This record gives sequence, C-alpha cells and structure tokens, in this order.
Amino acid sequence: METPPDDAALPGPLLDELLGVAMDVARACGRLITDERPRDLVADHFKTSSTDVVTIMDPRSEALARAELARRRPEDGVVGEEGTDVPGTSGIWWLVDPIDGTANYLYDMGFYAVSVAAVVGDPHTARAWYPVAGAVFNPVADELYLARRGGGSFVETGGVRTPLAVGTRTELARCLTGTGFGYAPPSRAKQGRVVAQVLPRVRDIRRMGVAALDLCHVARGRLDCYYEAGVNAWDIAAGWVILEEAGGVLRGTGGQRPSRLLTFAGQGPALDELEELVVGLLREIDPDAPEPDLS
Ligand code: IPD
Ligand code: CA
Repeated sequence: METPPDDAALPGPLLDELLGVAMDVARACGRLITDERPRDLVADHFKTSSTDVVTIMDPRSEALARAELARRRPEDGVVGEEGTDVPGTSGIWWLVDPIDGTANYLYDMGFYAVSVAAVVGDPHTARAWYPVAGAVFNPVADELYLARRGGGSFVETGGVRTPLAVGTRTELARCLTGTGFGYAPPSRAKQGRVVAQVLPRVRDIRRMGVAALDLCHVARGRLDCYYEAGVNAWDIAAGWVILEEAGGVLRGTGGQRPSRLLTFAGQGPALDELEELVVGLLREIDPDAPEPDLS
C-alpha cells in the first residue's frame, strides 16, 4: 500500500482546525440542501449522460462551501464537483462534493450527503494528494462522519459522538458488499456483468448511490466492503480518511492508490478476496486491457 507523503504529517492543532472547518461546512451545506430543497425539484441540467443529474441546489451548496472556506481558510485551494477551482498558497486544498447522491436527492430519498475534505498535495495531479481531515454529513439522518489523521474516526448524531471501527469478517461470502455504477451505458453494461458474478459470492449487494456514505458505512461496519469504478476525488477524499482512521483500507488494484479504474474499501482477507474476484472477472471480460478497468 502506498504511504502518505511526508507533508501529510501536519501538526495536531492544525489538523484539529481543518477538521472543525470540514465539519462546520458540511453541516452548513447539509442544512441548506434540506431546508431549502424545493418541493418541485427537477433536474436542472445533466453532466456526463442524461442520468447524471445536477439540481439547482448542487451549485448553491457548493457556493456556500466555497464562501465559508474562503472566510475560514483564505490561503487554501478549493476544488468542487460543480466547477469551483480556486488555487491557494498554503499547500492545503479542499475537495467538496456539495451533494453526493444527487439522484437520491432529486427523488427525495434520504440517502445523500455533503462531503468536505482537507488534503495535502494538488488534487489536479491524480497521484499527488492525500486527505488529512474530512467530514461527510447526511442531513436527513443527522449523521456527521468525521476524522482527522491520527485522531480516530467518529459519527456524531443528536450531539453524541461515537467511535467508528470497520467490521471484522474475514470471508467474502459473509460480506455485505457495497458498489456503485457509472452513468455511461457502456460502463454500466460492464459493471452489470461483473456484479452478476459478484452477487452469488457475497452475503448481498447494496447500491445506495452515495459513494462518500458507502465509505463511511464501511468505516462503521454497516458494510463489510465496497468496490466501484469512476469515482472522483471529491467522492472519496473525506471518506478515505474516515475509513483509514476506523482501521480500514481504501485502495486500487495491486496495492496502488484508489483510481477511476477501480477503488476498493474494506479490510483484511475479505478485501483481498474481493479484489481477486473483480480483477479476475475483468481479465475474462477484457484479457487485452493493460490494467483491470471497470470504468
Ligand atoms: C455519485 C454517487 C454514486 C456513485 C457515482 C457518483 P453524485 O455522486 O456517489 O454513489 O455511484 O459514481 O458520481 O453524482 O451524486 O455526486
Ligand atoms: Ca455531487
């Protein structure tokens, strides 16, 4: 597994400050998207395909996050899913998903979240950044997941903070396994072929539609493991630190960092078994691919 860059070892008081900012911003945006969600919410526009929805609340939530981060941490950079890209001078960047699970939000299904992470290294360079603090807030469940490097991982609900720990199941056959699907029909077709072969080998499959919460659910032991392709940095940054601080692992194939080709979350031999299974299926589907690619 790759080790974090040296500059990820920031002083404790700075990590505490970054975590506090992440929590405040995630909560503020979460309140905005629930309190001001229009009753007649419809898709505002689409991104990669006609199923990749953006509502009017996605950019509104991101604008609030951007304004709060500029006020609290003016020297940091900010990158957000809805187009925010503000350079900074401190070496710390924020990665914001203003609504993760927008399709659920559109349908008023209570599984969506705001994900806010502080990372060291430039997130424009796919292999250079590493999260140091993060918060993922599901405003409907009032669940705030939070972690900073070296500080443990927690969920806060109703004012009560509870430590998180990943599950301990060792056999994939007993693992409740989360996954997700991309938006492009050809990706979905491949992902459907793979999941059809994974389903008989695991306890069951869950597709909640919120990658950031999937990682928090693995951190909490509500899922045993998870795999997905096509995830973006803002989907995984906060969940990554929350998962690792809960004793879990986020990785790509062969011990590489997570990537858009494949991302796995979990722990121990069950995670190895899941990776072996998915990679083996991809090799059967496309023996000539230079790397296992589920995207
Ligand atoms: C999506 C969700 C979903 C995952 C997709 C993401 P969005 O994020 O996290 O679970 O399967 O890959 O794009 O579009 O709702 O922010
Ligand atoms: Ca989003």
